[in-house]
Amino acid sequence: MKKLYIETLGCAMNVRDSEHMIAELNKKEPYTLTQNLEDADLIIINTCSVREKPVSKLFSEIGVFKKKRKAGAKIGVTGCTASHLGEEIIKRAPYVDFVLGARNVSKITKVLEKKHAVEVATDYDESNYVFGEFRTNPYKAMVNISIGCDKQCTFCIVPVTRGEEISIPSSLIIQEVQRAVANGAKEVTLLGQNVNNYGRRFSGNIEGAQNFTELLQEVSKVEGLERIRFTSPHPLHMDDAFLEEFANNPKICKQIHVPLQSGSTEILKRMKRGYTKEWFLDRCNKIRTMVPNVAISTDIIVGFPGESDADFAETMDVLEQVRFDTLFSFKYSPRPHTAAAEYPDQVAEAIAQKRLAMLQERHKEIQKESMLSQVGKKVEVLFEELKSDGRVAGRSNEGRLVYVSGSEELLGKIKKVEVTEAKLTQLFGVVV
Ligand code: 5AD
Ligand code: SF4
Repeated sequence: MKKLYIETLGCAMNVRDSEHMIAELNKKEPYTLTQNLEDADLIIINTCSVREKPVSKLFSEIGVFKKKRKAGAKIGVTGCTASHLGEEIIKRAPYVDFVLGARNVSKITKVLEKKHAVEVATDYDESNYVFGEFRTNPYKAMVNISIGCDKQCTFCIVPVTRGEEISIPSSLIIQEVQRAVANGAKEVTLLGQNVNNYGRRFSGNIEGAQNFTELLQEVSKVEGLERIRFTSPHPLHMDDAFLEEFANNPKICKQIHVPLQSGSTEILKRMKRGYTKEWFLDRCNKIRTMVPNVAISTDIIVGFPGESDADFAETMDVLEQVRFDTLFSFKYSPRPHTAAAEYPDQVAEAIAQKRLAMLQERHKEIQKESMLSQVGKKVEVLFEELKSDGRVAGRSNEGRLVYVSGSEELLGKIKKVEVTEAKLTQLFGVVV
């Protein structure tokens, strides 16, 4: 059997794209997955271009692939960096056999047949709607509900790499969820770059759910499905109807990502985020009031062009007020084809670094307190991984990583766990 080595960078959509490529390859001829580069007949790197660092590392990484690969092994570059660099990848690294953009992953078996194939178009391609049935995790399935993004956040390269936003008809989404559940999934994560903008554009008149709240209602009717998550939502589209559904639908996990980006209304304007600091705080307050044990995560960029000390202080203020349970924080990284890269008032690296450290340090204290507050509580855990030391790991409804001692009998089951100990990113407890 042929062997496939696949490295996946970036977001959940990339992880799902990798699963889809594996499924498509297997339809044609069976592959086994290998972690060993030297054994592989096919080497794929599924890239991310959201920040510059991984992009600049790409060429040294594929250089290693070239050196270590066995004779005749093919190398493919796929995903977001493939989308925005296209042909340039083959020009700079002629040993790369194919380049396949993030919106073109359904063509994986086609590009394998052609030397130096480059497929990076971002026009509508409905063959992308139905994804293959390969799942990395048997208990948790990821399901795409939309492709691309129509927002024009001035820092973000995604609209360039993944193209215009289009929503997948809910009938297809429901079928995919049903298939996943029939194959053992208990939980589904609905995926989209702007997931709660579902229904923005369909290709033609489509029956069924017309917006995200309706889609959540439809998906939650799937029998046997126990948990629903979704990523990534946009704070602007968190209307009251959606918050009601989030709070009151028992299948929806009480974990929500609310990407702030900046706490300064002025910077949010320059980012073209479409909301103010007040709107963001109002949404988070509402979520916390409606769902007291909710876990809120966020993304924050520091050092965006024009960010002053006063702007950064607004971000720290939001951190203090919302007390995020999880924070993903980044230094601003200028990206090609984005408006902010051309802004004249770029922030010095040293200042951005200082702000990042301050933000992360304060968040760590908040996170510690938030995790400690879980001790003594009973949480519902879906167990998914048996560790070698006799412990079983799973995620609480609120998305926290929980360990108990136990055996494989727990795998795929949802159990109540009493939390007895907390570390910064892990909880420990006993099944009750
Ligand atoms: N620089 C730094 N961080 C960025 N992100 C997106 N674009 C950039 C950029 N140019 C961050 C945002 C987004 C997350 C996925 O990555 O916070 O929410
Ligand atoms: Fe990275 Fe964005 Fe592409 Fe996901 S969509 S892989 S985060 S650039």
